[in-house]
Amino acid sequence: MRYTHALVRRPCARFASGLTQSTEGPPDLVRALAQHAAYCGALTELGIEVTPLPDAPDHPDGTFVEDTALCFKEFCVIARPGAPSRRGECASVAPALQRHYRRVLNIEEPGTLDGGDVCLAEDLLLIGHSARTNEAGARQLADIARAAGLKPHIIDIRASRALLHLKSGINYLGEGLFLLSSNAPAIPAIERFEHLVPDAAEDYAANALAVNGTVLIAAGYPRIGAALAARGRRTQPLDTSEFRKMDGGLTCLSLRF
Ligand code: GLY
Repeated sequence: MRYTHALVRRPCARFASGLTQSTEGPPDLVRALAQHAAYCGALTELGIEVTPLPDAPDHPDGTFVEDTALCFKEFCVIARPGAPSRRGECASVAPALQRHYRRVLNIEEPGTLDGGDVCLAEDLLLIGHSARTNEAGARQLADIARAAGLKPHIIDIRASRALLHLKSGINYLGEGLFLLSSNAPAIPAIERFEHLVPDAAEDYAANALAVNGTVLIAAGYPRIGAALAARGRRTQPLDTSEFRKMDGGLTCLSLRF
């Protein structure tokens, strides 16, 4: 899939008061803003029109825009984040997506769903049932996906405590390749694909983002970079240290379509 657009949102002044289980200490806002600018620059270099969403000073997790919606070819779905503190983030995302999509669907109460729990791999749609995405939300998205001709699979990741979201450890990089963290659960639905599993020390970097022929990877995880290069994949490392401190990574910083 070739992406042409991305929505992003700068980290706000209250970025450090967002949700996190990380024990790495508070993020540095100046560094986070610089890393975010570099991320946007990388997307632009890859041929994507990057649209900044309005600053969201009341939503410290608002920079993790991927959790607020799902973008498909013909339609999008406004999500309903599982963390109550994040639900208000969707209000500014919906109008931005309405400018690009005629068909805008919604995850409805009592469903909750974070976009970070959803991974599209060809015609498969993996949906994580997580601490954020509940069964009702996962089923609503599965029904939408099935009606659109996709094959949804709901995967219970609640026992994989290191995975905040499905894509914290399960990412499809195109060309038949999944990048999986060492703690990802076994998923029979993806057995037909090639799997690249880093050693546990590089688990964080299993959250990588394939964009228009390049795999954006977190800087500082050389073995994943080498393994992808050995497969002929072009990689670009980006520093995500301040987002890691807030349980974020490369996928959740943008909504691509
Ligand atoms: N800090 C990202 C999240 O917990 O949703």
